[in-house]
Amino acid sequence: EVAAVLSGALTDSSTLSRDGVLTLLQAGPAETQALFAAADLVRGRNLGGEVHLRGIIEFSNCCVNNCRYCGLRRDNGKVARYRLEPAEILAAAREAAALGVQTIVLQSGEDPCYTADMLAGIIQRLKEELAVAVTLSVGDRSKDDYRLLRRAGADRYLLKHETAAPGLFARLRPGTTLTGRLKHLHWLKELGYQVGSGNMVGLPGQTLSILAEDIMLLKELGVEMAGIGPFIPHPDTPLAGHPAGDLDLTLKALAVTRLLLPQTHLPATTALGSIHPDGRRRGLLCGANVIMPNVTPLAYRARYQIYPGKTGLHTPPLESVNAAKTLIQSLDRQVGAGYGHACAVKPGT
Ligand code: 5AD
Ligand code: SF4
Repeated sequence: EVAAVLSGALTDSSTLSRDGVLTLLQAGPAETQALFAAADLVRGRNLGGEVHLRGIIEFSNCCVNNCRYCGLRRDNGKVARYRLEPAEILAAAREAAALGVQTIVLQSGEDPCYTADMLAGIIQRLKEELAVAVTLSVGDRSKDDYRLLRRAGADRYLLKHETAAPGLFARLRPGTTLTGRLKHLHWLKELGYQVGSGNMVGLPGQTLSILAEDIMLLKELGVEMAGIGPFIPHPDTPLAGHPAGDLDLTLKALAVTRLLLPQTHLPATTALGSIHPDGRRRGLLCGANVIMPNVTPLAYRARYQIYPGKTGLHTPPLESVNAAKTLIQSLDRQVGAGYGHACAVKPGT
């Protein structure tokens, strides 16, 4: 059955149904190798050998939210909180750009101390001074904020749906709803951002059927980017003691997403690289075409522990970027030329 779904998907991705996705997620070990090979083939056909680098700056670890899975949650009193000054953010971005990184990802907890005006000022300066695309990953904001940030020059926005199961979403993200998150994602689309979403694999309470829904939701949303990583339990959260997401299941979810969304930018996530030393390489071999080296100033790195065992805590920007380039070359792939914007071609054509 897996073979039939794969051959259908290889001919026409639009034939891949929710049931087909579920069948692929249930593939046994031998079939999984065929799934990975198919995803690699689809990636090569649609996106070639280019792997895009996105330099990520974690500029604040302060967060008003209390997500049960996240080490930066409001109630975690053990976190030494920090905020980078705009000048520090600009310096980090300059350093990354000098290393050849052409996309800067500004990421933080949900931190209202950075007003939309402040962020807009930072984005404007980045766009004026450096030849970079700017991606924001700063969570829920008002539509007016999103509009202002877009006008200031932000190109892309990452806002993961985390889980497509409404009950699980509400339990894991107290005070927020899946409906609310989807509304924000639609605003971002409307405002002309290239939009990224994504989910965790192996969240407590997540079934394979929910994981299939996660993947189908990415298609429904028509996202230009999708980040899929394993859940990793943090000891200072309510989910401490739960098992981490499985490496192979995460890779299967990534591969299936590639079959469903042939032209979507899919990173080999940091979380994937954190549960296994070979995780990112394996991600690049089953559908991924993006790596996000961490270019946060070293002094702050250890304080952005969304989950424990995060890779690169002591790796300075130069080494992070070089390690990514070396990995790409070791796979006979090329560092992406240009900004690596979303493909203009509509899905399915
Ligand atoms: N394990 C893995 N990923 C996590 N994230 C948050 N907490 C965890 C965890 N414990 C991811 C979420 C979020 C991003 C900031 O990090 O997907 O969107
Ligand atoms: Fe805050 Fe994001 Fe962590 Fe939730 S996942 S607590 S919003 S940093």
